[in-house]
Amino acid sequence: MKKNVLVIWYSQTGQLTNIVQRFCSSLDAAKIQVDYCEVKPIPDFPFPWQDEMHFYSQMPACVGLKALPLKLLNTSLKEKYDVIILGFQPWFLHPSIPAISIFENEKLRKLLNNTPVITLIGARNMWLNAQEIVKEKLNECGATLIGHIALVDQAKNLASVITVQRWMFKGLKDATFFLPRAGISEEDIARVAVFGELLSTNLLNNTLPQLQEAFEDGNSVNVKSNLVILERTGVKNFRKFAAYIDKATDTTIRLQRLRLFAFILSKGVFILTPISSLRSKVIGFFNQEILKKDIKYFKGINYQKDQF
Ligand SMILES: Cc1cc2nc3c(=O)[nH]c(=O)nc-3n(C[C@H](O)[C@H](O)[C@H](O)COP(=O)(O)O)c2cc1C
Repeated sequence: MKKNVLVIWYSQTGQLTNIVQRFCSSLDAAKIQVDYCEVKPIPDFPFPWQDEMHFYSQMPACVGLKALPLKLLNTSLKEKYDVIILGFQPWFLHPSIPAISIFENEKLRKLLNNTPVITLIGARNMWLNAQEIVKEKLNECGATLIGHIALVDQAKNLASVITVQRWMFKGLKDATFFLPRAGISEEDIARVAVFGELLSTNLLNNTLPQLQEAFEDGNSVNVKSNLVILERTGVKNFRKFAAYIDKATDTTIRLQRLRLFAFILSKGVFILTPISSLRSKVIGFFNQEILKKDIKYFKGINYQKDQF
């Protein structure tokens, strides 16, 4: 009997759609039926973002895990799948609003229940906290995480802060004289087909428990120690800032606080990041063994509460 795989994902720019398609291109079409379920929030987010403040004003909702209603672009879904691939992206160090909304959708929750799931992330470079939240949500749905793949922009952290803004606000992705191309490289996206093949083999041989090991051997995830420390600091600060913004009941004061957040994230980051990087190097130097353990954990599929 044919195996059934479902892919659920959201993509604002089309990047994650490319990743999902590459992954599935190597699933054995003769023996595996793949159903695609792209989701769109109502209302959807425009790309490019027409207004920069619209972009930054999503932060408190992301941190607060606020969901939107979803439109499922595939309405003829089966009752049950052998594996679900969940493609998502982080926004402000948390699952994107469309991604968190997947867990509030009754139909998708039912499909996730009692089903093996592979998470497939396309990010700039900070996705650890988002993945921890998704792991918790999967547990709540009764799903089992069996594999994890994360693709990131390989550019230097500060370079990608600039290129991601140019991409998001102007829709420009190409490299310039000074800047690398925005987003995940074509080579990395093409390489994701290898992981699709691994899923094919392990699904057809009924060896899914071995899948994550095969993924890790193929470098499905690369975690940099300095980014672990930077992200931990970032998550704490985002939570504080989100609470500070949400406390403002007056719309003018709320807007002022959002503007301050936007300024710090877009401009202040060039002063703060070198300081934080130096700090994370010092912390990393004195905590090498703990960091090694952290990296092993974040590459894996186990879930331990309160990592952030
Ligand atoms: C509002 C917003 C916030 C983002 N925040 C992060 C982030 O915290 N960490 C990260 O690695 N990437 C971040 N990104 C990049 C996305 O994760 C994603 O890679 C990019 O938006 C590509 O779009 P797509 O996945 O919708 O195709 C952000 C993007 C947006 C639009």
